[in-house]
Amino acid sequence: MIVSYRVNDVKIWCYLLMFLIFNMGFVETRLEEMDPRPPSTEKPKPEAPRVELKKGKCFHMSREHCPTDPKCTRVDPVSVFCCDVDSFRLKEALAITMTQNTTNLHVLNATIDELDVSQAVFRRLTSMALTDGNIGKIVGQFPKYSSIACLNISNNNLSSATLQSSIQRPFAYLFTLTVLDASANNLTEFPLSLVQSNRKISVDLSGNNYLPCKHFQKAMETNSSSLVTFLNYERTYCALDLTFNWFKDVQVVQIDHLRVQEELSASCRNIRPANANCTCIPDRLELLGGEVTNLVAVDCSMRHLKVMPTNLPPNTAKLNVSYNNITSLQAVSDDPTYEHLRQLLVDYNDIASIVELEGTKFIDNFMVFSLTHNKLKTIHTYVMSNCFITTGPSFLIGGNYIHCDCNTEKVVKPWLLENYKNIPDLKSLQCEDSMGPVVDLKEYQVCHTPRDWTDYIYYIIGLEVLVLVLLISKVSYDYWVFKTAGYLPWPANKMPRLPCDWLCE
Ligand SMILES: *[C@@H]1O[C@H](CO)[C@@H](O)[C@H](O)[C@H]1NC(C)=O
Ligand SMILES: *[C@@H]1O[C@H](CO)[C@@H](O)[C@H](O)[C@H]1NC(C)=O
Ligand SMILES: *[C@@H]1O[C@H](CO)[C@@H](O)[C@H](O)[C@H]1NC(C)=O
Ligand SMILES: *[C@@H]1O[C@H](CO)[C@@H](O)[C@H](O)[C@H]1NC(C)=O
Ligand SMILES: *[C@@H]1O[C@H](CO)[C@@H](O)[C@H](O)[C@H]1NC(C)=O
Ligand SMILES: *[C@@H]1O[C@H](CO)[C@@H](O)[C@H](O)[C@H]1NC(C)=O
Ligand SMILES: *[C@@H]1O[C@H](CO)[C@@H](O)[C@H](O)[C@H]1NC(C)=O
Ligand SMILES: *[C@@H]1O[C@H](CO)[C@@H](O)[C@H](O)[C@H]1NC(C)=O
Ligand SMILES: *[C@@H]1O[C@H](CO)[C@@H](O)[C@H](O)[C@H]1NC(C)=O
Repeated sequence: MIVSYRVNDVKIWCYLLMFLIFNMGFVETRLEEMDPRPPSTEKPKPEAPRVELKKGKCFHMSREHCPTDPKCTRVDPVSVFCCDVDSFRLKEALAITMTQNTTNLHVLNATIDELDVSQAVFRRLTSMALTDGNIGKIVGQFPKYSSIACLNISNNNLSSATLQSSIQRPFAYLFTLTVLDASANNLTEFPLSLVQSNRKISVDLSGNNYLPCKHFQKAMETNSSSLVTFLNYERTYCALDLTFNWFKDVQVVQIDHLRVQEELSASCRNIRPANANCTCIPDRLELLGGEVTNLVAVDCSMRHLKVMPTNLPPNTAKLNVSYNNITSLQAVSDDPTYEHLRQLLVDYNDIASIVELEGTKFIDNFMVFSLTHNKLKTIHTYVMSNCFITTGPSFLIGGNYIHCDCNTEKVVKPWLLENYKNIPDLKSLQCEDSMGPVVDLKEYQVCHTPRDWTDYIYYIIGLEVLVLVLLISKVSYDYWVFKTAGYLPWPANKMPRLPCDWLCE
């Protein structure tokens, strides 16, 4: 019992002492492992200047100061600089040059298959830089209470595939880290644990174009935004989540766009109906009324909506409400937030008519209006009379089965054919009752009844003219007989006297 207590006491003292050493650097202790060579035998190279740690920068030397042989050199009592090493030579050279006073390390162009950051040799560092090399994999984790304040793993061809499980974990214990430079790699995972730890930290993630934007967004959320500083902000890009991505041409964006996104997310949540759960993304910049405006794209597709969403974010230019059960477009004319809308995608809904759009700003200005696979019964062509003056806009109506009659043949069909450039899918607009495409509609198919009726009118007119001619000839004949023979033929002689008869007498 006593022995084990003693052992524990010694252990506790060891930890305490090590803690003091790590934090103050100058406390000497026999518990520390001894260096194989006394430090005084090596003098800093004359060409290497003494190094001052600049604020926000890790200990960093340029290539012109590279030692030739050995590969590592002590630049000053606390700093070691190595160049062009592989993992074996690094181990060897560090064993020689590192002392318990060494707090700064820069290794330039290390070619290392597996860098184990839990190695004892890294334990006392406050600034650690392995830059401009090729590191296959980072394994292990920094020891608990590691005092590293600045970590530079820039330009090492690192990908998250080789970091994935470890990048979160080694950083987990870096409680004193204030600068992380992981620029110019190919990381696809963001060290979120670092930026969510409630500490001020500067990170440089420029030159990693496959980091997901949603991670940056998380880091930029109101609470952590004051804590995280992105170095090289202008040159930091992120990849939009492809399932979120409306516009396939925009995949990698500068992270400044995410700040816009932050405000946008707030207004996106205000879209009604409240449970619509639409997603909103900045679409593109445009000059609107002399001001640079971020136009917004809203995606409310497949949300089981029964009505058009309202209260859209300011400057909504695109709206996708496809695959819902919307029956009316009334909101486009009633809701002022539709003012800037240029693209409206209402495919696969239950819209019966576009008549609600008559006179709206949208119908006069739209670029894309897609109404395919709806329940249109007719096309009110007059609503769209001003749309196709320019060749730009497209109107898509395929997959609708409209009611076809003679009016369709006489009005809608010619209108479709006339605007074929703006209605690219005009051939897929069908007539109901399996009558085929509207553009193939023939006059005789739908205009029977009216023609029969007009034909009949001509017969009646012909008959009437004939009767009139007969009547006139009969009256003329009667008159001639009366004049020559002096009597009235039948039936004139049977007619009663009329008040107007005096005219003839
Ligand atoms: C990290 O190393 C790169 C490449 O050598 C250098 O350009 C950069 O300034 C260093 N970053 C920090 C924070 O020291
Ligand atoms: C980096 O180091 C390797 C040896 O480890 C060497 O072959 C290569 O030339 C070095 N690269 C540069 C740019 O000096
Ligand atoms: C470490 O630094 C202290 C004081 O700065 C010095 O006395 C000691 O000799 C150094 N030790 C080594 C191994 O360089
Ligand atoms: C970068 O790493 C990949 C493997 O992850 C390797 O195939 C490629 O050769 C490396 N590129 C350079 C320039 O070393
Ligand atoms: C970076 O990663 C992406 C995706 O993982 C890959 O397509 C690309 O080739 C990588 N680039 C380099 C230089 O390794
Ligand atoms: C942000 O900070 C406030 C108070 O500082 C806290 O109440 C809130 O829960 C925090 N939100 C997040 C998402 O951490
Ligand atoms: C909102 O949509 C996202 C994905 O688009 C989904 O993860 C989330 O559960 C949805 N929320 C609600 C309340 O439907
Ligand atoms: C609109 O949303 C539907 C369903 O999510 C999608 O298939 C379609 O590609 C979207 N349209 C555009 C133009 O983004
Ligand atoms: C919504 O439309 C889908 C098909 O588009 C249909 O299966 C579903 O029953 C409709 N739901 C309602 C509530 O009308």
